[in-house]
Amino acid sequence: MTDQTSPKPATPAGQADRSADAAPVPRKLFIKTYGCQMNVYDSERMAEVLGAEGYTRTDTVEDADMVLLNTCHIREKASEKLYSDLGRLKPAKLAKPDLKIGVAGCVAQAEGGEILRRMPLVDLVVGPQSYHRLPAMMRAEGQVVDTDFPAEDKFDHLPERRALRGPTAFLTVQEGCDKFCAFCVVPYTRGAEVSRPPERLLAEARDLVSRGVREITLLGQNVNAYHGGGWGLARLLRELAGIEGLERLRYTTSHPNDMEDDLIAAHGDLPQLMPYLHLPVQSGSDRILKAMNRKHTAADYLRLVERIRAVRPDILLSSDFIVGFPGETDADFEATMDLIAAIGYGAAFSFKYSARPGTPAAEKTPVAPDIADERLQRLQSLVTQQQRAAQEAMVGREVSVLYEKPGRLPGQMVGKSDHLHAVHVTDPAGKVGDLVRVRVTASSTNSLAAERLD
Ligand code: SAH
Ligand code: SF4
Ligand code: F3S
Repeated sequence: MTDQTSPKPATPAGQADRSADAAPVPRKLFIKTYGCQMNVYDSERMAEVLGAEGYTRTDTVEDADMVLLNTCHIREKASEKLYSDLGRLKPAKLAKPDLKIGVAGCVAQAEGGEILRRMPLVDLVVGPQSYHRLPAMMRAEGQVVDTDFPAEDKFDHLPERRALRGPTAFLTVQEGCDKFCAFCVVPYTRGAEVSRPPERLLAEARDLVSRGVREITLLGQNVNAYHGGGWGLARLLRELAGIEGLERLRYTTSHPNDMEDDLIAAHGDLPQLMPYLHLPVQSGSDRILKAMNRKHTAADYLRLVERIRAVRPDILLSSDFIVGFPGETDADFEATMDLIAAIGYGAAFSFKYSARPGTPAAEKTPVAPDIADERLQRLQSLVTQQQRAAQEAMVGREVSVLYEKPGRLPGQMVGKSDHLHAVHVTDPAGKVGDLVRVRVTASSTNSLAAERLD
């Protein structure tokens, strides 16, 4: 899926290519991020690389000297969005011919030089493992493509984290996936599983905390398969919990088969580890799980959830579901609905199956779209009911909230509870970054209201 034959940037990878007398020229960078939180993290890091080259962020394309689209390939709709957005950039490029347009992320990785052929206005295409090479690519003449999986770690070549805006931060600890679920492009776009060394992660976390961060969410396509320097995720979480000032830890996304005993135990005895876990199951039918190559059954998943709840009874769970996977019958779908009913989720993301080129499932006959639509609607209404019930159950309870921003009303602050609910608190003295105790007074569609206690 990579395009290895395309021209390479003029400057070889990893070389220092900035001469001492070339002070960066101030320029503006517009970044649009699609897809998952790993792309959000990568966009921040790319902005930092380009910051060292004199670029500051702008929210308007018209002001930009460089537009970077950090793309997602997971479903057809996600990747097609790139092309419609590129189409919309034509007037800006005509008005400012030296505007640089770059495509990064998973579509870049999957389609490589094909993007340049379809959209000649694009100047550079950079895969997720090559972001440290961006400055060299920008200096190269003509169109450039880099979708290598280089031997060097891009994170070793990125500048240190700079000033941050809020009290929460993402930290990518693991990338790539070796699971090869039959429907999924991630093993191809992000490559094989790689874990970052724990000492680097601890240093980055300490640095984030010194800049005011109080909550860190560890990221990875298979975050609980983390195995850096002989440590598992549980060990990493325990060490991170020792950093003074780091009040909250979360991690996402996990695979059920990688929930080891020590990680489950951490949920019972690490107070910093928040009681919310995203644990995608995809389907409740063993036949479909097998066809998806998930390597676990519905009963395995139910047992796992029981064990997690035994150590942390109030944990809220969320999941991803795919409906209309090739061969899914009514009975298979009902098994998924039964599993959802048995678990009781705090939230869930559900998707209609989308055939992705190059994946094994793409060869199979899909379920008729109207049947898949109907199933998706039924599943979503069940999940919405469960989500409301989980929110309602919080009313009257004391929870902690980390303020992330002022609310829309005067004197109001908004933040997340331990259980990841958005909470609005009337607190005229409240500041972004405060971690406060509140009592939940009401639940509305997507958030809770609360009063401050201390
Ligand atoms: N690594 C994570 C999530 C990867 S992508 C995990 O293993 O769970 C996020 C979600 O997108 C997946 O959990 C899946 O539900 C959905 N997804 C992935 N490929 C898809 C496809 N071809 N069609 C529809 N949904 C898909
Ligand atoms: Fe995709 Fe499966 Fe890997 Fe998740 S575990 S990223 S769904 S292949
Ligand atoms: Fe999308 Fe790539 Fe993330 S395909 S979901 S941006 S890993």
